[in-house]
Amino acid sequence: MTAPSPAPPPAAPRIATGPRGLPLIGVVRDVRKDVLGWLTRTAAEHGPVAQYRFGPGRAYLVTHPDGRKHVLQDHVKNYTKDHYSYAMVRRIVGDGLLTSQGETWLKQRRLAQPAFHRARISAMAGQEFWPEPERFDPDRFTPEKIAARPRYAYFPFLGGPRQCIGNNFALMEGTLILATLAQHHRPRMVAGYTPTPEPLITLRPSRALPVLITAR
Ligand code: HEM
Repeated sequence: MTAPSPAPPPAAPRIATGPRGLPLIGVVRDVRKDVLGWLTRTAAEHGPVAQYRFGPGRAYLVTHPDGRKHVLQDHVKNYTKDHYSYAMVRRIVGDGLLTSQGETWLKQRRLAQPAFHRARISAMAGQEFWPEPERFDPDRFTPEKIAARPRYAYFPFLGGPRQCIGNNFALMEGTLILATLAQHHRPRMVAGYTPTPEPLITLRPSRALPVLITAR
């Protein structure tokens, strides 16, 4: 008889690395200086999950679709909105759908959900997945291209149970506005003007865009 072979040692836990930042404020100053550059560098240097201090709290930047799905969908119960940033929003907007949790959230979500149903709205009438990310290419969003990407490669509306409830409304509203304007007018950027992107909740030009509008 041979002795049972010992179980293999457990794999060492992998601890995410990240930019160090300064005492007390962490990376706040570096992020403020150049948000997009900081996000891109941190993802490139530290991989799919980076860890850093942002002011008083520890934060994680999850850039791979698998990690996003892990947090937002598969293990959403392990993550809460008990964070000072949400506490600040809560003080302003109260315990609404965006800021509430648990039973209070579920009750409000169930009440609001039918109003945002796709049919009702229509009645109202990372380099790996994004080659050449800065090129304007609407064909990235053909049904085939969408199907070829993991769900969380594109998640401007978040996902899982806390996905934006206005998701379909926002997409339809945007398309309608564009289609209405573009039917009669052709906007052209003023030559020589370079817009500076500003990431707030959405990514937008930092100042109003100077465009010339001509009739079609
Ligand atoms: C381009 C437009 C929009 C974007 C990019 C967007 C994005 C988001 C994101 C990322 C969240 C998750 C926030 C978080 O959990 O911290 C969210 C939640 C939410 N959004 Fe939007 N949103 C948009 C338009 C809208 C519109 C038009 C409405 C309503 C008419 C809306 C209502 C909400 C509500 C109520 C929540 C909270 C949902 C919940 O926690 O159950 N959003 N949105």
